[in-house]
Amino acid sequence: MIKKCLFPVAGYGTRFLPATKAMPKEMLPIVNKPLVHYGVEEALDAGLFEVGFVTGRNKRAINDYFDANYELEKEIAGSGKEELLTEIRDVINRGTFSTTRQRAMLGLGNAILTGETLIGDEPFGVVLADDLCFGEDDGVLAQMVELYKQFRCTIVAIEEVPDDQIEKFGVIAGDMIRDDLYRVTDMVEKPKKEDAPSNLAIIGRYILTPDIFDILRNTPPGKNGEVQITDALLTQAKKGCVIAYKFKGRRYDCGSIEGFIDATNYCFENFYKSS
Ligand code: G1P
Repeated sequence: MIKKCLFPVAGYGTRFLPATKAMPKEMLPIVNKPLVHYGVEEALDAGLFEVGFVTGRNKRAINDYFDANYELEKEIAGSGKEELLTEIRDVINRGTFSTTRQRAMLGLGNAILTGETLIGDEPFGVVLADDLCFGEDDGVLAQMVELYKQFRCTIVAIEEVPDDQIEKFGVIAGDMIRDDLYRVTDMVEKPKKEDAPSNLAIIGRYILTPDIFDILRNTPPGKNGEVQITDALLTQAKKGCVIAYKFKGRRYDCGSIEGFIDATNYCFENFYKSS
């Protein structure tokens, strides 16, 4: 079954400058946990215990976060503060954490291809930590793993977005096979509203079959001169099968200030205040 999950975390996070000048955007806190913590928890809850990070320069804090901090832990051992580390200790104990580095910012497709060394020849999950997702019951990745068991092919998460948002996403067209499932027939990365094949946008959760690596190796740079996972997925859809899934739950775009604040308010009200 699926054991591994890749986190492309090499991006600069320019929308959050100057906050991200000297720290990774994935370490910005949503209430009291860094953004990436939520994504990793979602992967672990889906049974994906082997976590791989595709990092870049200035991203060491992510590796340090998923490791012990002996000085700090010795300092607060036995005090009331120790329980504040319970959640992260639990995450660290449940998973393994590996890292490889993307040499240059050549796009999400290139980041995923860089992760091949951590994945090998097996299906795997991909989480874009900027998209903070809360499932209705199971987490979004767990919902997708269940679908993978049925379809045995690549699954992408989608949601309907308003017209003025379309050009921020990869957008699909497909044949409906259930009210929440489409067999993908077309995919366009960040189209203009008038060129979009639908209003069904891909969000940052994928289950990919490993043939994606060879496809990515042969995918030329697309939108913005970057190797796009969306282009590779279209090739995969034409050769075989890619399923798009309208997940059950909610998503916040924590790559934008507005989404980040909304997610913070949601987490504060629903998890922090009630804990
Ligand atoms: C990436 C993908 C895009 C997808 C989006 C989801 O874009 O390229 O297809 O819709 O993630 O968040 P990015 O937001 O990294 O520019």
